[in-house]
Amino acid sequence: MTLNSKFRDIYAHPVGRDILDKLLVQTGKPAWLINNGIIGNVTLGAVQRLTRGWLTPSFFEALLALLNIEPDAPDANNAAATPAWWKEAVFYQIYPRSFAPNGLRGIIAKLDYLRDLGVDAIWLSPVYDSPNDDNGYDIRDYYKILPEFGTMDDMDALIAGLHERGMKLVMDLVVNHTSDEHPWFQAALRDEHSPYRDFYFFRVSDNGPPNNWTSLFSGSAWNYYQEQKVWALHLFSKKQMDLNWECPALREEIYKIVRWWLNKGVDGFRLDVINFISKTEGLPKGDSFVGTLMGYTGIERYFYGPRLHEYLKELRARAFEPYKAFSVGETPGIGVQMGRLLSDSYRRELDLIFSFDHLETPGHSRFDDYRYDLSYLKRIYQTHLNADRGHGWNTLFFNNHDNPKFLSKVDPEGAYVQPLARLLAILQLTLRGTPFLYQGDEAGTQNQPFTSIDEIHDVESLGLYAELIKTMPPNKAFKRILAGTRDHARTPLCWEELERQRGDPASVRQFYRNLIALRRSSKALIYGELVFLRPKDKTLLSYTRTLADECFYIEANLSPTTRRSAAPCGAELLFGNYAGSPSTLRPYEARIYRINKLSKPM
Ligand code: GLC
Repeated sequence: MTLNSKFRDIYAHPVGRDILDKLLVQTGKPAWLINNGIIGNVTLGAVQRLTRGWLTPSFFEALLALLNIEPDAPDANNAAATPAWWKEAVFYQIYPRSFAPNGLRGIIAKLDYLRDLGVDAIWLSPVYDSPNDDNGYDIRDYYKILPEFGTMDDMDALIAGLHERGMKLVMDLVVNHTSDEHPWFQAALRDEHSPYRDFYFFRVSDNGPPNNWTSLFSGSAWNYYQEQKVWALHLFSKKQMDLNWECPALREEIYKIVRWWLNKGVDGFRLDVINFISKTEGLPKGDSFVGTLMGYTGIERYFYGPRLHEYLKELRARAFEPYKAFSVGETPGIGVQMGRLLSDSYRRELDLIFSFDHLETPGHSRFDDYRYDLSYLKRIYQTHLNADRGHGWNTLFFNNHDNPKFLSKVDPEGAYVQPLARLLAILQLTLRGTPFLYQGDEAGTQNQPFTSIDEIHDVESLGLYAELIKTMPPNKAFKRILAGTRDHARTPLCWEELERQRGDPASVRQFYRNLIALRRSSKALIYGELVFLRPKDKTLLSYTRTLADECFYIEANLSPTTRRSAAPCGAELLFGNYAGSPSTLRPYEARIYRINKLSKPM
């Protein structure tokens, strides 16, 4: 690709398509703008001339560099998915700080609860030794358990307890960075000749930070060490130092860590910000337009770096494959096509990825106070799930420890929590992909009514607040924090509420339990073909799942107003989030029907 390449060709390129789609989403522009005959024939060079003064040459240089990194396109093969335990499993994420009192012992005490809910596997957020600047995502010792969570014996007991119940354990693997208190970093900082010096990005620069990259947690991505007169790179907090994967000895250490835990019996890993591990050689400066648009300057230099595929293939071959271990990568900023190149089965990189395309609507970011429109979810799902046929497989989730509650984004006043929580459950357990529940989903948990910045603990929110109050009044800054803070997802799970819901057939908990059992009872809901119906209807999401003779029809009213159902005649209602099945769908009503394969949904 060069400046002479036409927009049409760039849009046909997997990376080009994802980037242009992202730009369209961020600017709220429709896809036809790029995908039409006139603009399609325009060359990149012509756009550069037309946008002079607005888009810098470095934008085009960075775009071309990204396009030219990727020689491959996803394989168009539409063969049926090969079975795997992690495609059939229902995962449940545990954030150990707030799941239950008493750390690992507390989790062990809840295993029967999880099994009863129908959970097959747990993803456990970090429990390693850490100074907790970012709640454990800053690891000081990969081979030690943080004392407040327990001991290595407790960890062994957890693994055994899960396996006894036929469940699996996926640990969090944070290897884009370590804590600044990790002995590698300490040795590297103290001695420039240390063998660990090359594990990190140290730079000497007399006139400010070595480049203009900003941290995802606000401010410069470089920390200056006065005594040593050296800068070191941290894409996250000042205590999360980026690791240099170019260094072969570092990669060996990482394989050692992974194998050590797999030897213990762990079944796989969730790989934290794993798409950030390959930084463009020379750490060139980031483009300011991309920085403003995406919120982080420099991101185009590392979110899909030149050696990413190579590192992932090596990590898989050297550490995961010998154990047949499972991997799911957290991949912020990765779109549909790049996602397939990272996780399609024939690529032998990751098994799954978490894409975040569905969590933010056009023109909005997490800290904007806005109401999420579910018709956007439909648009994103149609694109992602249609693209991910054949070799591809998806993750299905609405919450995790990094986001305010999805329920509250859709319905900030909480007027429709009861039907909405169940609607989301229906989608999560009947679409094509692996469901990842976050603790509290099964209780219909909403955002917290924080009233002051003193109640906020998260390092990301506090960094952003400090930045915001430089230019806006504190109450306005707090409003932004309130809309997006990760603390909404980190307050203690309300066991009293879950206990209250136990055995109550009308509870959200029981609804999840029944749906999980339904999914387990039917291969059509797991491997069945997914066909979206009425693709342009903004308020109705409807689809079928079909395998052999079994067929389900699912429909969901995505709006708070009533509308007609499109269920076929003679369909047998299995589940719904309201009682009865009149011909109108009530606010956020969702239903699952069993239908005859030949009957046509309307
Ligand atoms: C991931 C984690 C998040 C953490 C960040 C840095 O996004 O999910 O909690 O702060 O990586 O490790």
